[in-house]
Amino acid sequence: MSRLAGKVAVITGAGSGMGLASARLFAQEGAQLVLFGRDRAKLVATAQLIGGDALVVTGDLAHLDDLDRLVTASVDRFKAIDVLFLNAGNAPFAPIEATDESLFDRCFGVNVRGRYFAIQKFLPHLRAPASIILTSTGLLHKPLPELSAWAAASAAVRSLAQSLSVELADRGIRVNILSPGPIDTPIYDGYGMTSEEVAATKQGLAEKTLLKRMGQPEEMAEVALFLASEASRYVVGAEIVADGGYALT
Ligand SMILES: NC(=O)c1ccc[n+]([C@@H]2O[C@H](COP(=O)([O-])OP(=O)(O)OC[C@H]3O[C@@H](n4cnc5c(N)ncnc54)[C@H](OP(=O)(O)O)[C@@H]3O)[C@@H](O)[C@H]2O)c1
Repeated sequence: MSRLAGKVAVITGAGSGMGLASARLFAQEGAQLVLFGRDRAKLVATAQLIGGDALVVTGDLAHLDDLDRLVTASVDRFKAIDVLFLNAGNAPFAPIEATDESLFDRCFGVNVRGRYFAIQKFLPHLRAPASIILTSTGLLHKPLPELSAWAAASAAVRSLAQSLSVELADRGIRVNILSPGPIDTPIYDGYGMTSEEVAATKQGLAEKTLLKRMGQPEEMAEVALFLASEASRYVVGAEIVADGGYALT
């Protein structure tokens, strides 16, 4: 199948987890890709894995000059963009007492501000019918403790998708949300836990779903593909919660 034939897709956080899985699937479906993240080696590995001529751009989503470079490089190579998958993000664990200004600002700087300005900067280069996909979190529907900054940022992202849908729909630009539940990605390795603690955390999260397992990044890539492709042409300002039934337990 070639559900993204002729399409150009920008994927942030394409070096790992759901971004990597989506890059693979989007490429299999015929898309040309721009891969963005901070770690060049991981992005190059993704590009090699998927083959073809993916454009690799390194930078930090929170830095607006990095976003300018991303937009310029993307447009120089591909002229116009059809799919903007703003997947990269951070999800800091901390009780409210331990959430200092820097952690809070970093969380909002990447997850909200960075995505907001990425959309603004790509806007003149989006080719209708275009699809913007923002990653939020299914955990919003049943909050966990010690994730309040991330939950607040994710709620802002969801609100952003709805208000920008109203603003951009008549330009042929759809904005939708992918809200994953607990997905088995390297994100859990970044919290300073031992491997036993990581395994116990994942097991605990898996038990909180109806399916009694964590989701796989490839399963989220399938949802992202749906939102990216014309199969979702009547889906606007929506949130797809792909959480294994987490919110219902
Ligand atoms: N896994 C879950 O259970 C889960 C659940 C709900 C939502 N999410 C969200 O889903 C998204 C994907 O996460 P994942 O689980 O696939 O995690 P992951 O494997 O850790 O991937 C996250 C990616 O984001 C990139 N990234 C992080 N901060 C960045 C920044 N400031 N600038 C540019 N790139 C940045 C990282 O790339 P570099 O290291 O190269 O910068 C990494 O490739 C995130 O927004 C996460 O919050 C995850």
